Amino acid sequence: MQRILSPSMLSADFGHLERDTRMIDASAAQWVHIDVMDGVFVPNISFGFPVMKPIRKATQKLLDVHLMIVEPEKYVERFVTAGADLVTFHYEATHDIEGCIDRIRRAGAQVGISIKPATDPEVLRPWLAKIDLVLVMSVEPGFGGQSFIPGSLEKIARLRSMIDEAGLQTIIEVDGGISAANARAVFDAGAEALVAGSAVFGAADPAAEIVRMLEA
Ligand code: DX5
Ligand code: ZN
Repeated sequence: MQRILSPSMLSADFGHLERDTRMIDASAAQWVHIDVMDGVFVPNISFGFPVMKPIRKATQKLLDVHLMIVEPEKYVERFVTAGADLVTFHYEATHDIEGCIDRIRRAGAQVGISIKPATDPEVLRPWLAKIDLVLVMSVEPGFGGQSFIPGSLEKIARLRSMIDEAGLQTIIEVDGGISAANARAVFDAGAEALVAGSAVFGAADPAAEIVRMLEA
């Protein structure tokens, strides 16, 4: 299985967004993770379209956009226009899963669906063949720097079985509390892509920390 690292720009220095994006661009990380929060779906507000611009300009890597917003169907096309290569919305945030998937695809991006820690991975079964990625939240969405919820490993393993039994290629991505200390356990449970914010940007040598996680 492949191993992908997607550093979360939520933990970058917003006064030096271009510099920090170029640093990730030069690193071994394959993707760049963008956390969009609306203050309604989660109790925090991060940033929107204008802030994606300097990030998109500073890297050719896959822009992995994680929408923590209600009614994502209203905005998904605009995120693709703003440069998203992959748009992930929350299962809990919409009544129109099918509409979200279709809009993202028609706009030309890859599609992901994310579930919060309390959501049963079983709800994703009907959608797995129609999407490119599932994002398992291993903390409550809304903030960086939280601790990994250990029960997430079992959810990842269940999704791995569902995807393998159906003969699908759907990528499992995991987000929240990931560091070099638990990266191996998360990959071993069946994840292919890890998001890391504070572990990357809080490290003395972020590029070396990325390699440590990829080689954990
Ligand atoms: C949380 C975000 C995460 C966050 C991860 O709601 O979705 O992407 O930036 O931060 P760490 O790696 O610090 O848990
Ligand atoms: Zn995220």
